[in-house]
Amino acid sequence: MISVRELTKIYIPPGEKKAKRWLRRAASADERRPAADQVSFDVKRGELFVIMGLSGSGKSTVLRMLNRLVEPTSGAVEVDGTDLVSAAPRDLRRIRNSTINMVFQHFAIFPHRTVLENAAYGLQVRGVDVKERTARATAALERVGLGDWSHVLPSSLSGGMRQRVGLARALATDAEVLLMDEPYSALDPLIRRDMQDLLLELQEQLRKTIVFVTHDLNEAMRLGDRIMVMRDGKVIQVGTGSEILSCPADDYVADFVSDVDRSRVVTAETVMQEPLITVGPDHHPADALEKVANAEAHGAYVVTGDGTLVGAISVERLATATKSGVTSLQGLDLTEFKTVEEGTRLMDLMPLVGTCSVPLGVVDKSRRLIGVIPRAALLKALAHEGSTSHA
Ligand SMILES: Nc1ncnc2c1ncn2[C@@H]1O[C@H](COP(=O)(O)OP(=O)(O)OP(=O)(O)O)[C@@H](O)[C@H]1O
Ligand SMILES: [Mg+2]
Repeated sequence: MISVRELTKIYIPPGEKKAKRWLRRAASADERRPAADQVSFDVKRGELFVIMGLSGSGKSTVLRMLNRLVEPTSGAVEVDGTDLVSAAPRDLRRIRNSTINMVFQHFAIFPHRTVLENAAYGLQVRGVDVKERTARATAALERVGLGDWSHVLPSSLSGGMRQRVGLARALATDAEVLLMDEPYSALDPLIRRDMQDLLLELQEQLRKTIVFVTHDLNEAMRLGDRIMVMRDGKVIQVGTGSEILSCPADDYVADFVSDVDRSRVVTAETVMQEPLITVGPDHHPADALEKVANAEAHGAYVVTGDGTLVGAISVERLATATKSGVTSLQGLDLTEFKTVEEGTRLMDLMPLVGTCSVPLGVVDKSRRLIGVIPRAALLKALAHEGSTSHA
């Protein structure tokens, strides 16, 4: 949905008309330091993409270049197939009107207009007639839980409720892309959490493409499908929270994330290993026993040719079956195993690890066995390995 390539911004001081000359001659190296430096990333349709970094790292600059609120010095931005940087004013206007919407931390709330009028404001400036904008703003207010507050003035709202009005204003426009610049950073922690929950809930229903800026790591981990870490205008790492925690790109990121509770973020998919010992349902128990014993394993998963999970069997049961002359695994008790889905967080799978003769299995949506989590792998993932590992 959004594609950004080598996007760079160097702020030219006000009054410097000849930007190129200033860049070449007058400015010192420090002055010329880009606020955004060769930034490249893609945001998928329906993704909640978080830009995270300390103050001054260039987050807002990048976000504002996505709708050319800030004019890029060089580089390319494509939104839904349209090149924004070279877009004619008419196309740019169309995109700003219908595709992209921005939610600010201190979005302009008008004290003398009702909540409904404030929520409808984005539609009003886009020239939508009063009947339609009232209907759409009302629906948006209901979505954010302010259905009963339409006709009050903003002065009687709390901070969190005001932020909901801002969200309703953006939702009412039906824009597919929402750009959110630290929308919750002025809120109390508990209200902030409510707003994060609300955003996740709405995102579940609406599947907007959202670019969300924050300097709060926990907020980033909670909200982001993927997170982009920035420092000094540069992209340091892009990945899921789980990937960033398990495989920080450098010591800076490792340091940044060292205090995060891994078990709440890292997922099964990130720590699983390849299921090395599997047997087919038609295997002869004696063959299966040999395979398992050779690997010094306590059991094996039983999977079909396309990887679909049938069950698991322990080395003891295999030995018994072999002795009693059974010729195939089918018909044996294959129920001694536990599985989780790939997105399961470590805290939720911990109690299941090490409870069966086979390691905890990881399955995808079509119940194919895609990995296993031995106890040692779990412990390793939970340990704070301060160093940078690219394992
Ligand atoms: N309009 C501007 N003119 C000149 N320099 C600017 C302007 N806006 C930002 N900068 C500088 O560009 C750099 C990046 O700023 P930016 O606001 O993008 O960072 P940020 O990550 O959003 O920070 P914060 O978390 O404080 O909002 C900073 O050094 C900042 O001082
Ligand atoms: Mg900012």
